[in-house]
Amino acid sequence: LSALGLTAVAGYLLGAVPFGLVLTRLAGLGDIRTIGSGNIGATNVLRTGRKDLALATLLLDSGKGAIAALGARALAGWDGVDPALPVVAGVAAVIGHNYPVWLRFKGGKGVATTLGVILATAWPVGALACLTWLAMAAAFRYSSLAALTALTLAPVYAVPLAAPVHVAGFALLGLLAWWRHRDNVRRLRAGTETKIGQKKADAG
Ligand code: G3P
Repeated sequence: LSALGLTAVAGYLLGAVPFGLVLTRLAGLGDIRTIGSGNIGATNVLRTGRKDLALATLLLDSGKGAIAALGARALAGWDGVDPALPVVAGVAAVIGHNYPVWLRFKGGKGVATTLGVILATAWPVGALACLTWLAMAAAFRYSSLAALTALTLAPVYAVPLAAPVHVAGFALLGLLAWWRHRDNVRRLRAGTETKIGQKKADAG
């Protein structure tokens, strides 16, 4: 296996660890996939009322994306490392989160993991993306809308702030986020999307 193949497989397997599902199950809350939107991410863990578990899910899901990317960098040697390697590992981690082999490929939406990848590969872009999420969440209270705005703008922020491979990788992750948020987009358009901290959402 080439260095690229190895980091991609390692990134995928790391990304495929469904922390939201594991933490809520350990806490005796049942299967998070039957609660709220049915998603395994931090936003939906918050719908159980457990803020601590939602925060832990956010940190662990973004942390695994960051570690996948940083691990690839360390593996390749920090000096003069091809910037493509950490980006590939990070994209693989998000694919792992969204399509985990353990959950019959039915995973999450990849927002926290993507933000972790962006922070680890081009931190100024990641910082701007996080600020965008926070500003949109504060203004409109929709996690999905905040995520779609932040992840759509990340490749735009990367044009002046990072390398072309970051622009390409973040654009791919942005497109993937739109694909995974299809039901959220439908609910936003219908005016039925659940706001942050609200308990109910149509499963899906
Ligand atoms: O991070 C996922 C978020 O953007 C939407 O989550 O549970 O509201 O579908 P959810």
